[in-house]
Amino acid sequence: MYIVREVRSEDLFSVFKIAYETLPEPYNPGLFNIFYEEFPSGFLVAEMHGRVVGFIVGVKTDLYVAKILMLSVSKEYRRCGIGSALINRFIKEMRLQHIRQIDLEVRSNNYAAIDFYKKHDFDVIDFIPGFYKDGQDAYVMRKIL
Ligand SMILES: CC(C)(COP(=O)(O)OP(=O)(O)OC[C@H]1O[C@@H](n2cnc3c(N)ncnc32)[C@H](O)[C@@H]1OP(=O)(O)O)[C@@H](O)C(=O)NCCC(=O)NCCS
Repeated sequence: MYIVREVRSEDLFSVFKIAYETLPEPYNPGLFNIFYEEFPSGFLVAEMHGRVVGFIVGVKTDLYVAKILMLSVSKEYRRCGIGSALINRFIKEMRLQHIRQIDLEVRSNNYAAIDFYKKHDFDVIDFIPGFYKDGQDAYVMRKIL
């Protein structure tokens, strides 16, 4: 079984490793420290048998608005509900912070993630051509809490 909890400083290397292995954007490792220090309640990990197997990073972008910047589960642990557990806990934390709207961007060809977010009642509200550095388009998705 896994648990979802707030990130700790000793998790940051594992989180960076998952991001490096599973996300197409190259992230600077220092970024994870900044998220950890600036908005720890938006940075959660899933731990299984003492090992970090997934994480979510979100930030507050306005008084009542948050944005999910990254969400990933290690490949071998997908489709077991871990992504859902992470996003549900994130939503719960955001409600406690009086957040009323959660936004995110997702690659327009990332069908797994789009289906995942739709299942969690996010709606596509916009399309941004060439949003990513490699020229890929993005959908903007939003959930009103
Ligand atoms: C998106 C992601 C986080 C989902 O994590 P997960 O732990 O596999 O998700 P869950 O097991 O909680 O899935 C919940 C539901 O989402 C949908 N879903 C998840 N993966 C899917 C896939 N590959 N294809 C279609 N639907 C999918 C399904 O409805 C699923 O329910 P089901 O398994 O009962 O059918 C995971 O695929 C991932 O890490 N992808 C790579 C990183 C990424 O794209 N992140 C999002 C962009 S920032």
